[in-house]
Amino acid sequence: MVNETLKIIENRRSIRKYSPTPLTADEKQTILHAALRAPTAGNMMLYSIIEVEDQALKDRLAVTCDDQPFIASAPWVLLFVADYQRFFDFYTFSDVESACTEKGITPRRPADGDLLLASCDALIAAQTTVIAAESLGIGSCYIGDILENAEIHREMFNLPQYTLPITLLVFGRPFVAKEENRVTPRYDQQFVVFKNKYHRLSSEEFVKMNEPTAAHSYPNLTREEAAKTIAQNNYFRKFVADFSIEMNRSSRVWIDAWNKPH
Ligand SMILES: Cc1cc2nc3c(=O)[nH]c(=O)nc-3n(C[C@H](O)[C@H](O)[C@H](O)COP(=O)(O)O)c2cc1C
Repeated sequence: MVNETLKIIENRRSIRKYSPTPLTADEKQTILHAALRAPTAGNMMLYSIIEVEDQALKDRLAVTCDDQPFIASAPWVLLFVADYQRFFDFYTFSDVESACTEKGITPRRPADGDLLLASCDALIAAQTTVIAAESLGIGSCYIGDILENAEIHREMFNLPQYTLPITLLVFGRPFVAKEENRVTPRYDQQFVVFKNKYHRLSSEEFVKMNEPTAAHSYPNLTREEAAKTIAQNNYFRKFVADFSIEMNRSSRVWIDAWNKPH
């Protein structure tokens, strides 16, 4: 099956080089409108979107998000914040504590589950902007490294206790040579989509899962050696890399802040 929406999803790829032409006010408004139409838990909109317009902030993000200079050159940058602060402040404004006393209910503060739910909301809104932008011919790229440097990012964006900058998205019109513009491969569905129950992959399945890349990148290795090489390369490039260690430290700082006793 194919239609215009599916074609947009199929042909999207992360864009990291931009034509300097800024997005129009109309384009930005259309994308933000689409974001706010995304599904949201309890229709509470547990997220905030910060448009990062100040070039000094973009320049700093290009450094604090694991030294990725293209962030500074992106014509439009949106920070997606998982946000329970707004609703918790709203509750406080409405005197929930006195109402709890009257009803004999113990009041509580936002905790881990609320953080995960707010993160879902923020990410769903973020991905909606990606697709909306793509439909207007505007490329985008997620920056997961916004989860690093908690202390710096908290201060840069004045983020209160019950928030967490769950992702950053940079947008711009693609400025890429055709050959650089290829759609990246994915693992086959059989390794990712299961029926009814989770399925842990066996050694044979890991080998099979990596066959296309193995054949393309490691034609001189056995299928098993190639699969192990792919996994090891990924482990050292991603899992134990400095940025990953920092991301986990920083995430702990955010989560601990949500749970700080009062
Ligand atoms: C949560 C998340 C974090 C990401 N962080 C970065 C990043 O920091 N820098 C970057 O260049 N790309 C980043 N990406 C983009 C991925 O590298 C990209 O989606 C992946 O390689 C697949 O390529 P495609 O988007 O072109 O299909 C991120 C994507 C996601 C979903």
